[in-house]
Amino acid sequence: MNILLLGKTGQVAQSFLSMKKSKTRILAFDREEMPLDDRHKLSNNLSNVLRNNSIDFLINAAAFTDVNEAEVNSQLAFEINSNALLTITREIKKNSKKKTTLIHFSTDYIFDGTGNKPWYPHSKPNPLNVYGKSKLKGEEAIIHSNIPALILRTSWVFSKNGTNFLKTVLNKLKKNETLKIVDDQSGSPTSSDFISKFCWHVLENSLEYKKFGIYHLTGKGVTTWYKFAKFIAKTAHEKGVFDVDISNNILPVKSSDYSSKVIRPKNSYLDCQSLEKDFSFPRTTWQEQTSKILDQIISETK
Ligand SMILES: NC(=O)c1ccc[n+]([C@@H]2O[C@H](COP(=O)([O-])OP(=O)(O)OC[C@H]3O[C@@H](n4cnc5c(N)ncnc54)[C@H](OP(=O)(O)O)[C@@H]3O)[C@@H](O)[C@H]2O)c1
Repeated sequence: MNILLLGKTGQVAQSFLSMKKSKTRILAFDREEMPLDDRHKLSNNLSNVLRNNSIDFLINAAAFTDVNEAEVNSQLAFEINSNALLTITREIKKNSKKKTTLIHFSTDYIFDGTGNKPWYPHSKPNPLNVYGKSKLKGEEAIIHSNIPALILRTSWVFSKNGTNFLKTVLNKLKKNETLKIVDDQSGSPTSSDFISKFCWHVLENSLEYKKFGIYHLTGKGVTTWYKFAKFIAKTAHEKGVFDVDISNNILPVKSSDYSSKVIRPKNSYLDCQSLEKDFSFPRTTWQEQTSKILDQIISETK
């Protein structure tokens, strides 16, 4: 099986690469080799790889993911998260020797977060910020292209790699800082390892041929950023990172107390039942996923 992976330095891509199975060949590219903000180069380079290799899956793990920066640099966010998908889907259509399936990731931020019910894959999107708007346009480009594709909407991604909430909280607590964290935005933390496990599950079972479309994929359960941070602190203490329980160094605040240029959805809870059912894929809780990533971080710092 031949896999083309974009965004190889990112959290999800790194997890995916770390779980590589035998009998698979992964052609992985970084932003220099496949720049999503340079249509001409992306088009040429993609078409070369697709024409010269029989690619079964193209996994797009590249994206403009800095939600704050997207407000300032919206043109670039749209180029990478929306327009690049026009190029990618066009090149797949034109050059694939066999039917290449696209696996793409999207976000809870395509919803406006009103109410307290979970969001379903068919719920009406209404993004509040540039990042969400650009990701939604990317989804639309894929759907309109009619190529075989799986769009996996996920949320609150963390990993031992890269910059993410879990690592930021841990590092600040290590410096004995007091943290003020919003307690009125709820959602489901999801480890990049869990996302990658699902991708390998799909690839190994060739399930994609039956199940194209949009699915939600997050850790099981729902929490707030504040409670997530408290859990990180308590679990890190139990695992010996801190001598004492320093979870009291974390204080709850409201979104309105926190100055930010980005409007974020209050309710990001994604319903994942259709994915569990269609792919027979049992989900693990966000707490189990957090504990596993903490173990990895601890073992790397020993
Ligand atoms: N992170 C989250 O909380 C979250 C939540 C919901 C959905 N998602 C979605 O999940 C997917 C994976 O996210 P992630 O957390 O793994 O992302 P990430 O760690 O931020 O990695 C993004 C990747 O995209 C690459 N990239 C950025 N600009 C590029 C460009 N112009 N051309 C080519 N590559 C470029 C980055 O390269 P460099 O390393 O060189 O910058 C990096 O490899 C994305 O589609 C994201 O929208 C993420």
